[in-house]
Amino acid sequence: MNSLLLDALKCKNLSRPPIWIMRQAGRYMADYRALRAKFSFLEMVHNPEIAAQVTLLPVKQLGVDAAILFSDILVLLEPMGLKLRFDEGSGPHIENPLNNAKCLDRLLNPDIPKSLSYVGQAIRNVLPELHIPLLGFSGAPFTLASYMIEGKSSRDLRKTKQWMFEDPKSFHRLLHIIANHTIEYLTLQVDAGAQAIQIFDSWANFLGHAQFREFSLAYLKMILDAMRPKGVPLILFCRGSSVFGPELAQIRPAAISLDWNCDIGPMQSQIPAGVALQGNLDPDVLYAPHHVIKKEALRILESMQGSRGFIFNLGHGILPDIPFENVKFLVDTVKCYKSTQ
Ligand code: CP3
Repeated sequence: MNSLLLDALKCKNLSRPPIWIMRQAGRYMADYRALRAKFSFLEMVHNPEIAAQVTLLPVKQLGVDAAILFSDILVLLEPMGLKLRFDEGSGPHIENPLNNAKCLDRLLNPDIPKSLSYVGQAIRNVLPELHIPLLGFSGAPFTLASYMIEGKSSRDLRKTKQWMFEDPKSFHRLLHIIANHTIEYLTLQVDAGAQAIQIFDSWANFLGHAQFREFSLAYLKMILDAMRPKGVPLILFCRGSSVFGPELAQIRPAAISLDWNCDIGPMQSQIPAGVALQGNLDPDVLYAPHHVIKKEALRILESMQGSRGFIFNLGHGILPDIPFENVKFLVDTVKCYKSTQ
């Protein structure tokens, strides 16, 4: 078993930094595109055999140090009564978004272990094939709430923020409901065998500091506190973590995943010892020639040299048209790092 990731999450890694990549199973891989030609994205996610198979693609082809379950943060919304589909080219679409406090009454009260049992099955299918840790994941309540309200990826989260400022009480009610289901969902994943968890707060960067604390951080803390007895390390990713990193550290996750807006080396001084850092290469670097990829990766590796709690990753998910060989080159560069020191 390669334990680099779990060692780094305990800030006890004495070897080279582990690497995995957010959205590492996706359209930049030819084998993924070939499967997608036969099935819709949701068909793939809902099918535990296919989900397990897709989870393994980057493990086999890239040699990353962690697998992340192939799924999506939005599947939690389906048992709550939201009708989700993914349109070609334009991303997720919810047919019946929430428009106001009254809509909360039509949310279903789902049996999460039952309705999302296919996720547990996918985890159980993939585990015997792995010699590296498997990450489970969920969306953060704020980010999930934004999808429930906007109905799709939004440029400005206008409706979400309008609701949040106009009627904070019912917005909190929504966040509470999501956080409780998220705890059940993550528990399902841990019980099925996920060895670490990452929470994605992809839209937290739209929040001011006070709103971040009130509407995002408070619910991340609720989830962390509930999951702590399970003993599984939790990584918090947030767009905006360059700014909110120190606050995120206060709720004591195992690690914080940084977006690419900050210099990761100096960021260490703002994060207490015992909280690991993950990140933070700009995903667009992967469009560049290999010498540029190497230079930018080494800049990060060197600034984190000697850290026992560092995990190499991108500052956000990989993009669908990135050349596969550039991703492979990045993984190899990080994995060879020790021998070049
Ligand atoms: O990291 C992994 O490989 C695990 C799988 C994973 C996916 N989505 C697969 C996916 C994970 C962890 C996610 C998280 C996710 N999904 C987030 C948080 C992370 C982030 O990127 O901010 C968000 C906001 C979503 C919602 C979502 N799902 C969007 C906005 C889209 C459309 C993106 C696009 O470029 O079209 C998806 C679809 C999606 N999720 C794909 C994959 C591989 C592409 C689907 C396809 O094949 O058409």
